[in-house]
Amino acid sequence: MDRANYPDLSGRTVFVTGGASGIGACLVERFHGQGCKVAFVDLQRDSGQALAAKLAEGVWFRRCDVTDAAALQAAIADAADALGPVTVLINNVANDARHNAAETSVEAWRQSLAVNLDPAFVASVAAYPMMKLEGGGSIVNVSSINAMWGPAHMATYVAAKGAINSLCKSLAREWGPDRVRVNALSPGWVVTERQLELWLTPEAEAQWREQVALKERLYPDDIANAALFLASDSARMITGTNLVVDAGRLG
Ligand SMILES: NC(=O)c1ccc[n+]([C@@H]2O[C@H](COP(=O)([O-])OP(=O)(O)OC[C@H]3O[C@@H](n4cnc5c(N)ncnc54)[C@H](O)[C@@H]3O)[C@@H](O)[C@H]2O)c1
Repeated sequence: MDRANYPDLSGRTVFVTGGASGIGACLVERFHGQGCKVAFVDLQRDSGQALAAKLAEGVWFRRCDVTDAAALQAAIADAADALGPVTVLINNVANDARHNAAETSVEAWRQSLAVNLDPAFVASVAAYPMMKLEGGGSIVNVSSINAMWGPAHMATYVAAKGAINSLCKSLAREWGPDRVRVNALSPGWVVTERQLELWLTPEAEAQWREQVALKERLYPDDIANAALFLASDSARMITGTNLVVDAGRLG
């Protein structure tokens, strides 16, 4: 795959939530490959440490449960102390667990929003003052095309992703005068280990292929390509929007 190079990203500090596996790990690697200093948090200590060790220089990792707002705020502050002010924030963390809406307790609803929605707001508010001081920044909120399609058994997840899309617009308007851009990035079905393990059966994949224009698998790299673009100065006049990377789902 041809890979774009964004020289303006080099040397910048990027913070990624949920960066130890899946799309997040790819984001960490790809931003690092652009010469960025990359901080990331995740629940998975071993995978996080292994990724940080593999990339070695200019990487900061902490095991952090993003549902603990104070811990997430502290991680962003400490990462900035270690690597420099965060001017790119990728709100990537999520949990797409399936559930029956009618059997979902209020506690489970709140717990899902605590992973799928709250960290995007908490981290954005924590990083914004640094971005403002630095003369600007880019926040990329990883959403999902499921916010638009609304599949069953994902009510809490799709509600959170829909809220993230709206959050982008409001923050983009509020922080635009400070040159802080806020965009959503909505993947279609991306092949990760977790998806293969849990849901991407041959039957489900065949059905997905019928729904998309481009009959090939989407990989984390495809999402990272879009995230790099949105983070870079090449997207300097793009804010408050939702970039869909879904192989062209049409039905
Ligand atoms: N994979 C897909 O097909 C797909 C499709 C649409 C959108 N997305 C979105 O892309 C993003 C990444 O998806 P993915 O498939 O790589 O997800 P994933 O579930 O494979 O990875 C999420 C990461 O977040 C971490 N995490 C989960 N809960 C956490 C918590 N409380 N605190 C800290 N870390 C926690 C996990 O350990 C994991 O490393 C998500 O926002 C997801 O909604 C993915």
